[in-house]
Amino acid sequence: MIFDSHAHYDSEAFDPDRETLLADVLPAAGVARVVNCGSDEATSRFSLALAEQYDYIYAACGVHPHEAQASGRFSETPLLPLLAHPKCVAVGEIGLDYHYDFSPRDLQKEWFEGQILLANRLHKPVIVHDREAHADTWQLLARHRPAGVVHCFSGSVEMARDVLNAGLYIGLGGAVTFKNARVPVEVARFVPLDRLLLETDCPYMTPVPHRGRRNDSTLIPLIAARIAAVKQTDEQTVLAAAAQNAARLFGVPL
Ligand code: NI
Repeated sequence: MIFDSHAHYDSEAFDPDRETLLADVLPAAGVARVVNCGSDEATSRFSLALAEQYDYIYAACGVHPHEAQASGRFSETPLLPLLAHPKCVAVGEIGLDYHYDFSPRDLQKEWFEGQILLANRLHKPVIVHDREAHADTWQLLARHRPAGVVHCFSGSVEMARDVLNAGLYIGLGGAVTFKNARVPVEVARFVPLDRLLLETDCPYMTPVPHRGRRNDSTLIPLIAARIAAVKQTDEQTVLAAAAQNAARLFGVPL
């Protein structure tokens, strides 16, 4: 039972074989559910189109911090019809990225906060991107207390404790398999099995031993196996727990 809680099959990296991959390869490998995350209006629409085409795919719609600049001042108007779609299960991905700083930080915060408030009003969870912006991300999450997940979690164990205490889930992906993954492994050890989501963030974040190649949801078991080793349990237990958690958070039947 593979539930990939965070993928980008709209990416041009999948243009050559998207249909074969989504219609055949993923289901044959046991991929049962995927949440495809938009990054702006166009990719959110693309995510919904994939969700309409494939039963097992669901969509998250939102504006990523990288796209805040191109999207102008925050407005919920273009997002509302997307979020009303029956297969849109979350507002995402949204957040702050001070590593690349592709958008001015004030504008990133405006979009992040606006979309958290929108999610709260619509009773939808958020899918949060936080890259080198832990303090500001946590400040807005603590202030508004949305339901959701901090995806590709890159904070410390201390931040993980805060995030869990706020009722949020923690998303772990390929980074836990990297050779130098000290903190992600500590976080994997710390997060209880009932608060963990598995994700690819594909086409990015390909797990070991496939680094350098395109990522996809069939590689989720490698992440589960690494987490299972850290937690001294087995891969199937991690896969099953993560699937149950994602189903609960996103309101998706298994
Ligand atoms: Ni992503």
